[in-house]
Amino acid sequence: MERKPLRIAVVGLGWMGQAHSRSYARIPQLFEDRTYDPVLAICADNMEDRRDMAVNSFGFEEVVADWRDIMDRDDIDVVTCTAPNMLHEEICVAAAETGKHIFCEKPVGGKPEQTVRAEKACRDAGVVTGVGYNYRFAPLVQYLKGLIEDGTLGNITNYRGRFFSMYGSDPLGLLSWRFDIDQSGHGVSTDILSHSMDLAHMLVGPITKVMGHQKTFITERPIPQPGGTHYDRGNPDDPKGPVTNEDYFGAMCEFENGAIGTFETSRSIIGPESQNAFDVYGTKGAANWNLETMNEMGLFLVDDKARGYTTVRGGDRYPYHGNFVPGDANSIAFEDLVTIEDYEYLQAVSAGTKHSASFAEAVDYVSVQAALLKSTETGTWQDVVSLRLD
Ligand SMILES: NC(=O)c1ccc[n+]([C@@H]2O[C@H](COP(=O)([O-])OP(=O)(O)OC[C@H]3O[C@@H](n4cnc5c(N)ncnc54)[C@H](O)[C@@H]3O)[C@@H](O)[C@H]2O)c1
Repeated sequence: MERKPLRIAVVGLGWMGQAHSRSYARIPQLFEDRTYDPVLAICADNMEDRRDMAVNSFGFEEVVADWRDIMDRDDIDVVTCTAPNMLHEEICVAAAETGKHIFCEKPVGGKPEQTVRAEKACRDAGVVTGVGYNYRFAPLVQYLKGLIEDGTLGNITNYRGRFFSMYGSDPLGLLSWRFDIDQSGHGVSTDILSHSMDLAHMLVGPITKVMGHQKTFITERPIPQPGGTHYDRGNPDDPKGPVTNEDYFGAMCEFENGAIGTFETSRSIIGPESQNAFDVYGTKGAANWNLETMNEMGLFLVDDKARGYTTVRGGDRYPYHGNFVPGDANSIAFEDLVTIEDYEYLQAVSAGTKHSASFAEAVDYVSVQAALLKSTETGTWQDVVSLRLD
């Protein structure tokens, strides 16, 4: 098969920049039906050791300290934005204006209005967009999507989503960009609630009405030195700075199809370590899934003679799983979901078609987020109004 080279620029070689770069490198070994070959062309990072890593460990052809140096070049097809949140809008708009396709880690913007402006710029430019809602691509989540679409669960009546993480539960965890409203935008409502609600949007449909509640439990943290990760820890005597966005967000909602939902997200809870999980209930059955045990799904079907939840184990009979490992109950992992996402996004770029999730789906989420933020100010239910610009 003739395959088109797709030359990729990665901006920000931290956790997710490295995850996407590894994904691009291994797509050829995992997806024989791909219509392109990814090329790690250039990496931008303002830290020298990350630029060294880009060349010496990842094999990027070139590196630059300033991401703006990528934008005027005409030999780059795709920009992958994995820098801190508040840089995303500027990077996405610059990529769109110079005709480059753009994959942006979530959130597209730290604040709803930034996501909305980035989506409009990319739509006007006609570039193919993607946003990093990687949990959509978990094989068992994809399988469940099919069960909901073909009516196996009946009409969906209830949804319970949560993303409980411990990444901010240690008061000595550093004051990284994530805890600062100027660098990150809002807290968990911008960060992990977007994943939880995106899964609900995909499985159940649009959310029309919301009531929200937010709280910051850890109000100051040790000031970091450059170069660490958001899992690093300070000392009790280190100088501290204020946390300026929320640790917790809770929401009640109604879906367009009449279902009701509740969501809870926290980065400072003790116990659940990366519990991106949901329960979905319909008139003929129910299901549950949790990232921490992502190779299993609970399934309850009313018509089964034996009552109770069955544990469905991941395996190559479900979408994508067999690209990584054959047979039943041989596990795949977090970064495999990023690779599936990257494979699908680059297929869309190569074909010139829409990818899901695109910036349009990111605007769907921030429209809900904006209504939730308003609800926390007024203490009242709010209708979700699309923020999409004409
Ligand atoms: N989809 C997911 O599951 C998931 C998981 C984690 C993070 N994320 C998202 O990925 C993005 C990056 O998060 P991360 O955890 O990889 O962060 P990180 O802090 O580990 O990495 C950020 C990188 O950007 C670089 N950087 C900072 N300023 C820069 C600049 N001006 N120009 C170029 N590079 C710059 C840093 O040096 C660092 O290498 C965030 O938007 C985050 O919300 C998504």
